[in-house]
This record gives sequence, C-alpha cells and structure tokens, in this order.
Amino acid sequence: MAESMRGLHRTCRCAEVTEQMIGSTATLMGWVQKVRNIGGVIFVDLRDRSGIMQLLFENDERGVNSADFEKAAGLRSEFVIAATGVVEARGGEVNKSLATGALEMRVKSFRILSESDVPPFEVKEDSKTRDEVRLKYRYLDLRRPDIQRNIMLRSKVAMLTRQFFAKEGFLEIETPMLGKSTPEGARDYLVPSRIHPGCFYGLPQSPQLYKQLLMCSGYDRYIQIARCFRDEDLRADRQPEFTQIDMELSFVDVDDVIDVNERFLAFLFKEVLDVDVPLPIQRITWQEAMDRFGSDKPDMRFGMELHDVSDIVKNCGFGVFTGALEAGGSVRGINAKGQGGMPRKKIDKLVEFVRGYGAKGLAYIAIGEDGTVKSSFAKFMTDEEMSALISAMEGENGDLLLFAADKKKLVYDVLGALRLELAEQMGLLDKNEYRFVWVTEFPLLEWSEEENRFTAMHHPFTMLMEEDIDLLDTDPGKVRAKAYDIVLNGNEIGGGSVRIHQDDIQEKMFEKLGFTKEQAHEQFGFLLDAFRYGVPPHAGLAYGLDRLVMLMAKVDSIRDVIAFPKVKDASCLMTKSPSEVDEKQLEELHLEIRKDTEAAQE
Ligand code: AMO
Ligand code: AMP
Repeated sequence: MAESMRGLHRTCRCAEVTEQMIGSTATLMGWVQKVRNIGGVIFVDLRDRSGIMQLLFENDERGVNSADFEKAAGLRSEFVIAATGVVEARGGEVNKSLATGALEMRVKSFRILSESDVPPFEVKEDSKTRDEVRLKYRYLDLRRPDIQRNIMLRSKVAMLTRQFFAKEGFLEIETPMLGKSTPEGARDYLVPSRIHPGCFYGLPQSPQLYKQLLMCSGYDRYIQIARCFRDEDLRADRQPEFTQIDMELSFVDVDDVIDVNERFLAFLFKEVLDVDVPLPIQRITWQEAMDRFGSDKPDMRFGMELHDVSDIVKNCGFGVFTGALEAGGSVRGINAKGQGGMPRKKIDKLVEFVRGYGAKGLAYIAIGEDGTVKSSFAKFMTDEEMSALISAMEGENGDLLLFAADKKKLVYDVLGALRLELAEQMGLLDKNEYRFVWVTEFPLLEWSEEENRFTAMHHPFTMLMEEDIDLLDTDPGKVRAKAYDIVLNGNEIGGGSVRIHQDDIQEKMFEKLGFTKEQAHEQFGFLLDAFRYGVPPHAGLAYGLDRLVMLMAKVDSIRDVIAFPKVKDASCLMTKSPSEVDEKQLEELHLEIRKDTEAAQE
C-alpha cells in the first residue's frame, strides 16, 4: 500500500535536524534503515542522503494511534516513509557516530510512501558484497552512504571548477559528441549513420580539435566538463567513457597554463578537503622522473629513488650485469631501507612480481643489522666490488638492495613498479597526504615497434621545444615537447601541451609521423585550413575528473566515483549493455552482422 504526498511538505533532511529544533515539529522523509521493536516502543532509523535520524513510535497521546502503531510494526528495511513528529533529546544512550545521535523524533503521524522487497544486500557503509551484485543493483549500491559521499563530492568538485574558471575568464562551451573518427590515439567508438550509408561518426576521445578551433575563433579561454570515449582495455583508473575537465587558452605559453592550474588545484583542495597545496608545485622533467623514479608519473610521497650503478659494475665478474651493459642496457637499483631482514620467501615473491613486468630476474643484497651480507650474486664479485656497489647504493646495516639489469626502458619499468610495490608493503602510502608534481619536457615522439614508425607521445598537435627544432631532422627520438602532466600521488590526473600554430612545423610533424600530405589533409584538413586564417598561439590541459575525485575521495577505483560505471569487459551489468538490436534497426543503418560473429555469439 503506497500512500501519496498530498498535503505533505518535508521540513528538512534527516541529518539536518539540530538541537535548536528540540520541541518543534518536523516532517522527515526517507528510507527505513533499521527497525527495532522492543514491545511498547518501535525505533526506526530513517535514512536519506544527509544521514540518519532516529524515529520513535509509541501508541499513546504523545505518539501515534493504534492503527499507525500497527502499521509501524510492519515497517521493513528500505520502505520509503514520511513521518511528522516532535524533535526531542534522545531518551536512551547518545550515539556518538551520528550527527543526530543526541536526538530523536517522536512520531505523531506517518505514511508509507512505498514498500520494498527484501533487498539483495543490506544498504550500509563499506559493504563486503561482491562487485557483480553491487553493480547489477547499482541503484541500491548508490544508496550506500560512502558511495553517496563520493558522488556528492564529485558534484562539489564540478561546481567549484566552474566557479573558479568562470572567475578567471573562461567560457563554458559544448563540443559535439558525434564527430569525425580519427585513427590517432586510442580506438574510437563508432556510431553508424542512417542517412549516409556506410559512414560513421566517431565519439570524441577528447574535445582536442574542437577546442583548438575555438581558439582560432577567438574565444580566448575555453572550459568544458566533457565526456570522452576510448575503446581501450580497462583498469582500475580507466573507463571506456570518462569525464575530463578540459581547457584551452590563447596567447599563452607553458608557464601561463601551469600558473592558472596551480591556483585552481590549491583552491579546490582547500575548499573541498581543507588541504593546503603549497605553491608553486614542484616541476621535474620527464628524464629526471624516469631516472629518479622509473616512472613518468612518480609518487612523491616517499623516496626510495633509483640509483644508476652501471659505471660501478661495468667491469665486475657478474655476467648478468656486464651482459646487460654490453648489450647497451643499464644496471640500476633501489634501496629498501630497513628491509634487510626480509625472509627469502618474500624476496622470491618480489622476483615473481618483477617477472610480471618482463624482468629476467632481480638481483639482491640483503645487509643484516649486524652488517652480514647475503646476496644472490656475491659469489661473482670481489669484496671491493661489493663494497663499492653497496656504497653507491647508500646501503647501510639493515637495508635491502635490489637490482635490475636490462634494456634501459625495461629497467625503468621494473624498478618503477617495484618501488611502488615495496612502498605499499612498507606502509609508506598515506591516502591523506597529497603530493603534486608537474612532469615536463616529455619526448615529442615515441618509436612504435608495432607500426615501425614514430607516433606522437601526446598528440600530433603538440609543440616541440624551440631549442630542439633542429633535432627533428637529425634525431627525432630526442626532441622534447612542450608537454606537461600533472601527477598526484603517482596518478596522472591531467596532461596538456602548447600546440603547434605554425603550419611549417605542423607539416613537418605529420611527415615525421609518417602521414603523407594527402592523409594529413584527409584527417585534419579542417584544422589545417582554419590555421590559414589567423590562429593565435594556444595551449591547454585536461584533467581526468574521475581520477581526481577518486584521489580526493581516497578510494582505489574510479568506479567508486562514477554513478553508473562499466566493468572490465566494458559492459554495464545493470542495463546489460551492449546488447543486440533488432534486424530492422540494423537495416536502417545499412549494417549486417557477419555470420562468423553470429556463430561466436552463440
Ligand atoms: P589525455 O589523453 O592525457 O589528454 O587525457 C587527459 C586526462 O584524462 C584522464 N584519462 C582517463 N580517465 C579515465 N579513463 C580513461 N580511459 C582515461 N583516459 C585519460 C587522465 C588524463 O591525464 N586532449 C588532451 C589534453 C590536452 O592536450 O589538452 C587529452 O585528452 O587523467
Ligand atoms: P642466475 O645467474 O640467472 O642464477 O641469476 C643470479 C641472480 O641474478 C638471481 O638473483 C637472479 O634473479 C638475478 N638476475 C637474473 N637476471 C637478472 C637481470 N636481468 N637483472 C637483475 N637480476 C637478474
């Protein structure tokens, strides 16, 4: 029996009831969290997005009539009710974990607005329910207070973002979802056209081209909270559709973009978390990030930096080291302070861990508290070589030194990942600490073994550093870009670059990327044409809003800050999308499903 709202008005949300309201009448509405019937008295915890308020039902002149008392006895979890009563100081023990823990409301009358089936899981904080069940019933999962806090935090971040950038003179402008598919970057999601047989729109991987066109059109400063689509393999920090805080600015260089964004981050973290972000934020070059941390998104909350020991071991007797160096590789190590006593089994686990990153092994030196040395390769080294290595690693009693020898890129990857794994094991990662760093001067181009050509590390419109222009012809792999990433606690939360606005440089860039003139015009002709009519120098940046909110909410997956996320295979467990469509729909779109696909579906 579901009653109507006729004549009822909610006076406030559950947790907005305060001590000042004691003695006054309130009308609250929400979901039944819990019912405790102790004979003559029924207590109901009523929940809405603000929190919980305790209701008290008694069948007497101060409370409800016998019919309503009986109705209250029938309440179950997740029933939706409206209750009117008098706010009182709590008769029983105060509940310190609730904002309203010292209060209760003595109900005079109430209505059941709707009933609920028994839910598949209890709606409560930190549920241990399996992910598949949670996501199938996402509408119930979204009622959980911790998820609700995340979603409300996200809303606040979006609101403050608009507020900040509006004050700074940015205009909010929408760009199309149905755009042109461009093969550069990740895989596109395609939308077939009904009106143009055999033609497809591409959903935007980012508003990159449009925002550059807006600069050509004189809008000067653009911002958009933009939905982006990328058909790539999912991870904890990746979704097929995600949201960017996307911006572009005219008549600026690197420092201008960094300046306004540092002030934005300081404002946002102060307003939302009351965290002070010291400005300016540290900047390190990409090369320095790789050399010191083995990563282009270094976690700066702890040290454990990489040491290059190639020179120290180049003539030693350990073939693994010298072999890697002779092949043009590198030998580097990290010092896990105080881990010298790590049991052999645990070290073996680390070896397994680095194998997952393609390492052939992991050499170690464990220094006991008393200075005794255990090592997987001491037998190949002289005492002098060992002590030179230990001192190069700043090894002290009680330390564990770990080494990787291989191609430089692999050594970076392996030690970068190992550094994080050890930090996790050693409890060095505090979610309440926020350490930002700008990583600058990324390489412009990246050699792709797969495609046997250079690809743009950021995108083909990224400007190179003026001092490296000549290298573009002689040593393209060495050219540095005017590109920057903003990294927070080891997560790339945003990235951007100064764009090329000179057509000769843009043309050369396409040439290096292996585009013919015709191909470049086929793909990006509208942008190149636009640039012929007066283009201001411009630059921009985009944040991954989901990642930013994930870190601010101190959760481990962006799924926990997205209302309706997808799972690993890019499907939605609640709506069961993607799904097959009618034959008629396919016909209208001039599409036919291939026979072998049909067989695979069966
Ligand atoms: P980029 O590709 O670096 O740059 O993307 C910007 C930021 O978006 C976030 N991000 C993602 N978040 C969730 N799921 C994904 N699949 C995903 N992919 C990226 C990251 C990243 O830092 N147009 C350029 C920006 C520019 O140059 O102005 C761009 O899209 O946090
Ligand atoms: P081996 O001579 O293969 O028994 O290896 C001796 C030690 O070196 C073992 O601890 C291996 O894990 C380690 N090792 C092997 N290959 C590498 C490598 N490429 N980098 C670092 N250590 C390695």
